[in-house]
Amino acid sequence: MLILGIESSCDETAASVCEDCRVIRSSVVSTQIEEHKKYGGVVPEIASRRHCENILGVVRKSLDDAKISLADLDGIAVTYAPGLIGALLVGVNFAKALAFAAEKPLIPVHHIAGHIAANYICHPDLEPPYLCIVASGAHSHLIEVLSYTKFRVIGRTRDDAAGECFDKCARAMGFPYPGGVHIDKAAESGNPSAFKLPRPIVAGSEFDFSFSGLKTSVINLLHHAEQKGESINKNDLSASVQSTIAEIITDKTMLAAERCGYKKIALAGGVSANSGIRSALSAACGDRGFDFYMPEKQLCGDNGAMIACQGSYNFIAGIRADESLNAAATLSLDEI
Ligand code: KG4
Ligand code: ZN
Repeated sequence: MLILGIESSCDETAASVCEDCRVIRSSVVSTQIEEHKKYGGVVPEIASRRHCENILGVVRKSLDDAKISLADLDGIAVTYAPGLIGALLVGVNFAKALAFAAEKPLIPVHHIAGHIAANYICHPDLEPPYLCIVASGAHSHLIEVLSYTKFRVIGRTRDDAAGECFDKCARAMGFPYPGGVHIDKAAESGNPSAFKLPRPIVAGSEFDFSFSGLKTSVINLLHHAEQKGESINKNDLSASVQSTIAEIITDKTMLAAERCGYKKIALAGGVSANSGIRSALSAACGDRGFDFYMPEKQLCGDNGAMIACQGSYNFIAGIRADESLNAAATLSLDEI
């Protein structure tokens, strides 16, 4: 079974061919980061235009690298939600036209389900059910992965996502966009106990997250230091931010695992590349005897392989889209 996966939800145009669900035959990612960096964040209209220019070349290369032609495919999978609407529409329309021309089934894929599926590529033994913590630029979710295609979201952020918090703190420290990776690097030589930063108390759902208080306190701390003419050690502040986010994520995930009875835990999403979060979750799972899974670093960020992999499982489950498929900027995994 050969499935083509197409991803264009944010600032990466990506395509991949996947064989029998978990074997990646090709993976092509064209990133726009350098262009958006100038503006300190993703400019949606620029993102759409670049997807439009790049998508055909990226898809053609993914077929060439896999040494197959369109006719060899069993289906064409595409991210249709959530994400930047103009960016998603480029991938959706392209996939629709390709499926029509090649007379292949069109398979809709939810972006977050794709991030989760990155773990299947890296861990041949991983099978649902398990608990997954998804942390990306726009989402922080605790998800019960009930089967390959059924999900229950049991916790979500009330305000900013973990990635947003990393990026805004990084920006306030003067790091370029996207700042998460710069905080990760600076934290390597910083003291995580140098700054006492707030841990949120979220009333209501015990599995929900909140990162805006942490973000605001870091921005205020830098602002006050600047007003007083004091300098802040960025390595120490980075290490403190990273360890606080890692602790919040780890504590909630362990609480949810214990309450819901999961002994198998996975991490996914762009923020899963963060070394502090990777080691904190890995240690906490180790202490409790839980099995812990995370994607290789190059599969943490947006890519086509995760969409091709999840698309394969959707295909097996009989999930198809027709010519009326539309993109959606927001759509919970619960609703699919
Ligand atoms: O999943 P993703 O590529 O895009 C979305 O679907 O949102 O996630 C991007 C996010 C950005 O906020 C980026 O700063 C963050 O992932 N990120 C990191 C690291 N690498 C990427 N955050 C912390 N540490 C990292 N090493
Ligand atoms: Zn993503």
